[in-house]
Amino acid sequence: MKPNHIAIIMDGNGRWATSHNKSRKFGHKRGAKSARDIVRYTGMLGIKYLTLYAFSTENWGRPLKEVDLLMTLFVETLDSEIEDLNDNNVRVIFIGDRSGLTKSLIDKIDKAELLTKDNQGLNLTVALAYGGRWDIINATRLILDKIQNNELNHSDIDEDQLSSLMQLGSKPDPDLLIRTGGEKRISNFLLWNIAYTELYFCESLWPDFNHSDLDIAIEFYTERKRRYGKNV
Ligand code: FPP
Repeated sequence: MKPNHIAIIMDGNGRWATSHNKSRKFGHKRGAKSARDIVRYTGMLGIKYLTLYAFSTENWGRPLKEVDLLMTLFVETLDSEIEDLNDNNVRVIFIGDRSGLTKSLIDKIDKAELLTKDNQGLNLTVALAYGGRWDIINATRLILDKIQNNELNHSDIDEDQLSSLMQLGSKPDPDLLIRTGGEKRISNFLLWNIAYTELYFCESLWPDFNHSDLDIAIEFYTERKRRYGKNV
């Protein structure tokens, strides 16, 4: 069976740029092009959920010039893509800590979410200024608030309760996590939600990741036997 929810760590824009004698800016632009293409293709394949790791909490530590160009790229990409995404029935949602984002980016995010809120096609989540540990801390704070407001008792706290307060909320956990660019690590992405996710690491750098690479990753997933800790 094909995966219902695919999550992707899009890695390798910088190395792609270096290997083509181009600037990192150019590499990120090609990365945005690749994201656009993979979003379309995922929708065509009838996959219901796609979650893309666009900017991690750790990425704030990159040189200011690169952070600025990435933020500008996110604004530009939203501007250029949102109508088309909406026409293609894609619902767009952003997750992450918005406190460090510019007002103009937050406004565009709010508009994009509002415009696409009733769409029933691909459910696209963009993780921006997101960290898995931040997500867990944030949910913990929300739980404490609820306890303080007498909306929740200690005994009510279970997996479903915590899941509902994590950034992915009621969305199903990813079935397949893809990381491009050759590294084999999770880099603080969706820590809570990937407990039983199948992990797929490939060498392709993100700007090179194409339809056939996604087909291969999905084929890898369909061949897995998921036992969720049981032995049958
Ligand atoms: C990873 O490459 C990419 C990023 C941290 C930047 C974010 C992703 C994009 C610009 C793709 C577009 C996405 C959207 C939603 C518009 P890297 O810089 O870590 O590459 P390196 O490891 O080779 O240096």
